[in-house]
Amino acid sequence: MTATQEMYNYKVVRQFAIMTVIWGIVGMLVGVYIAAEMAWPVLNFDTPYITFGRLRSLHTNAVIFAFGGSALFASSYYAVQRTCHTRLFSDKLASFTFWGWQLVIVLAAITLPLGITSSKEYAELEWPIDILIAVVWVTYAIVFFGTILKRKVKHIYVANWFFGGFILTVAVLHIFNSMALPVTMLKSYSAYAGVQDAMIQWWYGHNAVGFFLTAGFLGIMYYFVPKQAGRPVYSYRLSVVHFWALIFTYIWAGPHHLHYTALPDWTQSLGMAFSLILLAPSWGGMINGIMTLSGAWEKLRTDPILRFLIVSISFYGMSTFEGPMMAIKTVNALSHYTDWTIGHVHSGALGWVAMVSIGAMYYLIPRMYGREIYSLKLVEWHFWLATLGIALYIVAMWVSGVTQGLMWRAVNADGTLTYSFIQSVQASHPFYIVRFVGGALFLSGMFVMLYNTLKTIGGAKAIEAPVVAPAAAH
Ligand code: HEM
Ligand code: HEM
Repeated sequence: MTATQEMYNYKVVRQFAIMTVIWGIVGMLVGVYIAAEMAWPVLNFDTPYITFGRLRSLHTNAVIFAFGGSALFASSYYAVQRTCHTRLFSDKLASFTFWGWQLVIVLAAITLPLGITSSKEYAELEWPIDILIAVVWVTYAIVFFGTILKRKVKHIYVANWFFGGFILTVAVLHIFNSMALPVTMLKSYSAYAGVQDAMIQWWYGHNAVGFFLTAGFLGIMYYFVPKQAGRPVYSYRLSVVHFWALIFTYIWAGPHHLHYTALPDWTQSLGMAFSLILLAPSWGGMINGIMTLSGAWEKLRTDPILRFLIVSISFYGMSTFEGPMMAIKTVNALSHYTDWTIGHVHSGALGWVAMVSIGAMYYLIPRMYGREIYSLKLVEWHFWLATLGIALYIVAMWVSGVTQGLMWRAVNADGTLTYSFIQSVQASHPFYIVRFVGGALFLSGMFVMLYNTLKTIGGAKAIEAPVVAPAAAH
């Protein structure tokens, strides 16, 4: 064991890093299966446990909370120790967050296919599991902020601001959105009624995107991009402005999920206005991430790990341009309920969240095991499989979505609808096949990653000295 490994708790980082790869494969496998069900409905096999309706929420929970969550735990536990020059606040509590989080995921994997759900999107799990999530999350906050408190350096590096903002806000969102009256062990009713329930749900849902899928991963960007590029953050001042502007603006934008509903009109307009404003901090962050590479662009040619990170920031920029556009009410009138939303989701989820996580894991895993990476060539292969997969996925969904939107609103001179609904389903069918192929390519890249990871861990290419001396670490 090296001196750095004794100084820091790497065990929990290692555990979460490995589970990121495993849950990534499981969640995306379910994604590919439901994509296949959309193309070939016979795959539902008339078996309730594997129908699209049940597996869809298993997919979203597995990719967001199991895969994305594990990546966030691993990277935040690593970054907070390195930047504070101190060991985690408590090894026992950190270990509890690992096992507690895995238990939540296993319970989700059992209950969702059984149809046990609160039916709130991204918050489907029933109340006993919700309580477990709250306990694990509060423990995570104690470990993280406890580590910040016992730090050996005065400064709190900006990545920790993003991780901290994400941890605090997700705790508040989860606890308030999950308020419910239990009727049995497996059934509860929301504490809110009617339109207020919808409003709270999308305050949660949108900020799950803003804080879980964005702020946390920006923490990853601010630590791992400068590290892998070997350059300081482009503008530290911009990163601080980025942080405050982003967290202030995100929290108001939720109503854009409820345009043209019973929600009061002014709240919808407010949500739209804040979504448009959100473009500015989002792009400020993107520019800061990409410009960190200025003067070192040539590294992109030789370093596939850096390529994962930089392409992820480009997708972040793309999806945060598209999002504000879709929040404009007249645009949303076309995009809502269509596959355009699904294309937007996956340009953020695959392009940004998955790519940045994969890049960070390729950085972390060899270091956590004191090994050199087994094969950079395989990382390169993974990169191209993933990029091609995303391109096929999102282009297919954009074309399908806009086609659906246009077909649904087309009217004849006498005011009757030009197309029946089933005609729009037929028009979408080829694109579902393309999406399936894109997803399968992305998934195959994850298998390449698993192989590379196993060979790295079991490999003989040990690194003698600690990768970065503690004093030099940021
Ligand atoms: C192999 C990769 C993936 C495939 C094939 C895939 C496939 C799918 C499919 C078929 C749906 C249902 C779409 C519909 O209802 O019409 C879906 C929904 C969703 N997926 Fe994925 N997915 C993949 C990866 C991911 C990842 C990595 C994430 C997040 C990090 C993610 C997040 C979501 C979300 C949030 C939804 C719900 C979207 C909504 O309700 O608008 N997916 N996915
Ligand atoms: C400035 C940033 C963003 C804005 C303003 C924005 C806006 C929007 C809008 C208007 C919708 C469509 C709502 C509807 O018609 O139902 C949407 C859906 C969605 N977006 Fe974004 N978006 C942004 C960034 C992102 C990013 C970076 C991600 C992923 C990492 C993401 C994930 C999602 C998801 C998962 C949904 C589907 C929610 C659902 O209906 O289940 N968004 N977004």
